[in-house]
Amino acid sequence: MSLLTAARAVRENAHAPYSRFKVGAAVRGADGAIYVGCNVENVAAPEGTCAEAGAIAAMVAAGCREIAEVAVIADGPAPVSPCGGCRQKLAEFAGPEVRVTMATVAGETLEMTVGELLPGAFSAAQMRGV
Ligand code: THU
Repeated sequence: MSLLTAARAVRENAHAPYSRFKVGAAVRGADGAIYVGCNVENVAAPEGTCAEAGAIAAMVAAGCREIAEVAVIADGPAPVSPCGGCRQKLAEFAGPEVRVTMATVAGETLEMTVGELLPGAFSAAQMRGV
């Protein structure tokens, strides 16, 4: 199954009664496995979580700590763009060269790298020597 197909499938399970904006995400781990996540909203809005966060959590829970590829999909007018927080979450486990495919349900796609999505990411290297 392709990464985008996996993201499209898990999007159906999103819990998005407040925004009505269902998002699906899939990451391929360095172990070759596909990990999926969907957005899970909450009546107390800040407690909701993004699809990317769910996919990353599933990967880490399975014992994998390196992302090889990412796909995100939603039913918007343009390929869905990961939020700022999710870009930093991706950068925790993905190098700047890792490919992120953003997609619409209608079939439009946009490819960028993690480095393009989050130039100047805060990294552990900046804390050394403090
Ligand atoms: N959302 C994601 O899950 N991922 C993104 O990349 C963009 C936004 C979710 C959060 C919220 O449940 C809904 O989309 C509207 O912001």
